[in-house]
Amino acid sequence: MIVLGIESTCDETGCALVRNGREILSNQVASQTLHTEFGGVVPELAGRKQIEACFPVLRAALKEANLPLNAIDCIAVANGPGLIGSILVGLHFAKGLAWSLQKPLIGVNHVEAHLFAPFMGDEDPQLPALGVVISGGHTALYRINAIGSYELIGQTQDDALGEAFDKVARLLGLPYPGGPHLEKLAESGDPLRFVFKPGIIKHNPFDFSFSGLKTAFLYHLHGQNGRPQRDPIVSNTEIQHLAASFQHAAFSNLLDKAFRAAVKWQCQSIVFGGGVSSNQTLRDLVNKQAPMPVFWPPPGLSQDNGAMIAGLGYRRHKLAHYETIFSLEAYPRCSHGFQGV
Ligand code: KG4
Ligand code: ZN
Repeated sequence: MIVLGIESTCDETGCALVRNGREILSNQVASQTLHTEFGGVVPELAGRKQIEACFPVLRAALKEANLPLNAIDCIAVANGPGLIGSILVGLHFAKGLAWSLQKPLIGVNHVEAHLFAPFMGDEDPQLPALGVVISGGHTALYRINAIGSYELIGQTQDDALGEAFDKVARLLGLPYPGGPHLEKLAESGDPLRFVFKPGIIKHNPFDFSFSGLKTAFLYHLHGQNGRPQRDPIVSNTEIQHLAASFQHAAFSNLLDKAFRAAVKWQCQSIVFGGGVSSNQTLRDLVNKQAPMPVFWPPPGLSQDNGAMIAGLGYRRHKLAHYETIFSLEAYPRCSHGFQGV
């Protein structure tokens, strides 16, 4: 069965063709560049750009897979959570395709799909697994009992991890999305030169708080009464140390909680998903310290993409009969259609 996966929940447009839930025949992603000058995604502009990108990205995906449109057996679309305008574009595009091809349409939760991405590699992670979602919009720990059965263990109370990277990168004048730029800058810095303390959440030790890191970074960069517009009061070399120290503090905090949760909830493996999971410094740290086997998304499946949507859509299709449901709705928040959230 060939599933077309469509992902349009933010500023990426992804279309992918996946055979039998695992064999990725194509995975095309168009990233919007117009947000760079604003230092973050402008929702209204993102939605408009999605309209322009849908057809070219679908055509590119069909071309890469060397398949005609009518080879598609089923369509899976991310109908949330994310930016409502962006989601609506992908959802209606999917509905139009499903109607014209007379194929089933399946709505997929995009955060759940991030958790599913590590299950698309050569080997299936052992269950129950500790799922760590680290993206620009979400940071959370789940116990994955089975695909479709999740228990929320902890989540961020303020910024998502990717969002914290993006905000710090913005303070340094780096382009959006800042995560990869900050990782590069941190490569030549000393991760232990400065002390950054992520927030402590009293009522749940497995929740996160990353927003204070950004303020601490600002103070290091511009002084206690500093303003982002001023020139930094530290040298370029110290900026590299700052970037490395920020990254180290954020990852240490994440991993400390994730590893403890995995042991406490008697997990057999740990899986990572979401844009930040492509960070090589994080992967090196995890591979050195993890108390049990770890699984990462295959190449190209960390950031938003259609392949993980198609993969999860296929699993859903195997479990239940789907038809083209034109009443399928878009939802901006996570609490809809994803057990355990
Ligand atoms: O999963 P994703 O593509 O979209 C959301 O669902 O949010 O994640 C995007 C986020 C951005 O915040 C981006 O800065 C971050 O992932 N990111 C990284 C890296 N690559 C992407 N953060 C840190 N290091 C990276 N190498
Ligand atoms: Zn995402």
